[in-house]
Order: sequence, then structure tokens, then C-alpha cells
Amino acid sequence: MRFQNHRLHLLFTIGMLGSGLLIIGCSKSEPGGQTARGGGGKEAKAVYTIGMSQCNLGEPWRVEMNAEIKAAADKHPNLKVIFKDAQNDTLKQRAHVEEFVSAGVDLLIISPKEAQPLTEPVDKAMDAHIPVIVLDRSLLGDKFTCFIGADNVKIGRAAGEWIAKKLGAKGKVVELKGLMTSTPGGDRNRGFREGIAGSNIEVIFEADMKWLEPDARKEMESALARFPKIDCVYAHNDPGAHGAYLAAQAAGREKEMFFVGIDALPQEGVAYVKQGILDATFQYPTGGAEAIETALKILKGEPVPKTITLGSRVFDKESVAAGGRELK
Ligand code: FRU
Repeated sequence: MRFQNHRLHLLFTIGMLGSGLLIIGCSKSEPGGQTARGGGGKEAKAVYTIGMSQCNLGEPWRVEMNAEIKAAADKHPNLKVIFKDAQNDTLKQRAHVEEFVSAGVDLLIISPKEAQPLTEPVDKAMDAHIPVIVLDRSLLGDKFTCFIGADNVKIGRAAGEWIAKKLGAKGKVVELKGLMTSTPGGDRNRGFREGIAGSNIEVIFEADMKWLEPDARKEMESALARFPKIDCVYAHNDPGAHGAYLAAQAAGREKEMFFVGIDALPQEGVAYVKQGILDATFQYPTGGAEAIETALKILKGEPVPKTITLGSRVFDKESVAAGGRELK
């Protein structure tokens, strides 16, 4: 009897220990679904939390990006997206990424303001097995799960070729650059220089307007004051091209030159082309819907490509009514 009791006790203890281990096993995978992270996707969850770190919401283009993400995510009741807006402050954006990591989100989407300072916090997210989708502006190196964006070198080159053609391969151009510590700024500059290479087009003035319309307007005022003849303004985004147009208009010189921008939002750049304010705009899709599509695959453990390159279209007088022309 005593022996029997002893055996029962032992069995009971082993049983308790076993279930204890089981509980520990489960709770380990609880916060943020650790086992589902890093593209493993072993364990399905009822709801996945996605942290979206947006560098700013100052331009309509970024408002559109968030709206596309929200609309795409709303179609999936198992997705919850938490948006943070860094208000164009790199330190704030670093803190936002760190907050998402310590909250244990299941996946991070980031559209970083600048490449270098945002690389480290994203590294840490990856170390914590949180998959990361980088949208539009890239980071240094390739420690992220997937990059989604259009080819900025190609867009810059197409803009250069468009301008060279319009100007008969000669003329004086002002280049208003996007923030040069962000990857699209460098790429749109490099592509453009390739596009005008071999022509007699001269860049007589260049300045970093940091993607901001008021800065572009100020820089253009300086260019107008210095140069009596300007044939074209190439701005790295539509707000920049619009700022330059306003400066030229205030000086009574807007008819003297072409204005070319990038983004082509229907209510912004495309509308400017229709109104005759801009002469061309090159589409830069936000990738919001593709980010959610890709996030779902990663969370399910399906493989995704390292880079998803989005297409672009040019909208000018000739093509705007037909919805633009695809860039080859
Ligand atoms: C908005 C924006 C766009 C531009 C993109 C580049 O902040 O400046 O106008 O195309 O960012 O990352």
C-alpha cells in the first residue's frame, strides 16, 4: 500500500513537472509569437500586430502610403497595424523602432528618414527575430527581410532622358535634390546624371531641398537671382518642383522653363501636369498595399523575395490623359 502510494506520488510529481514544462514552453512563444517570427511562421496567431514606423506625414505622398497600408490591412481581420509618425525626426524614429521591438510586435514595416541612423535599430529588431519590411527609402547593408520600392536610379535616368529630349540635348538645368542622406536622393541624382550624360546639358545650380517644398522654393529663389537663363528645373519630388514653380512665378519667369518632378500622386503631381504647372512627373508608388501582402506571407512562413521592385509611369502633356506611359 505504502509502495503503491509512493508510486502514485512519483507519477503525480512527474506529471506536474511535465505540465509545468509545457506551460513554460507555451509562454515562451507568447509575447509577439516568438516562434512565428523571423519568417519561421510555425505558429498561427489569431491576431498579428504590425508596427509601422513612418518617417513623417508632412507630404501627401506619405499620407497616401499610410492610407494604402491601412486599407490593405483592414481587409484582414487577423492584422492589427500600429502607426507611429516620427515627424521627420531621425532620433524620434529610432525610438519608435526600439519601442516596437520592446513591445514584441510580430512584424515591423519601416519607411526610414535616413539610411545610416536607422540601420542599427532595424538590426536589433532582426536580432530579436522580428521580420522587417523596409519601404521606399533603404538602409545600409541588407539586414532586413524585404525591401519594397521603385527603382530610383531608373526613374532619375528617365527624367534625365526626358529633359535632354525636350531641350534638344542642350540647356541649363537646376537640380533640386531630395535629402541626400536618404537613398532615393542619391539614386535620383545618379540616375539623372546618367540620363543627361553625353548631351550638352549643364547643371548650373544644385541644392539639397530635403524633400521639402518651402526649402525648394528658397533654393530656387537663389538660383533665379544668380542665373538670368534657366531652361529646366529637375526636382527629386513633386513638392520640390511645385516650390520651384512658385518661386519662378513670383519672379515672373515660370514660362521661361520646364518643371519636372517625381511622385505623380493623382491629386498632386498628375493634377499639376493637367493644370500646366509641371511639364512632367514620374510615378513613385508608395508600396503600401504590397507591404501588407508581403507581411501576410512572412507571417504565414512563406518565402518572400529580398527585393520587390515596383514599376513607374511618366505623366506629361502627351500621356497624362491616357493615364501616363509605362517606363521600360
Ligand atoms: C515624401 C517623399 C516623396 C519622395 C519620397 C522619397 O516624404 O519625399 O516625395 O518621393 O519621400 O523617399
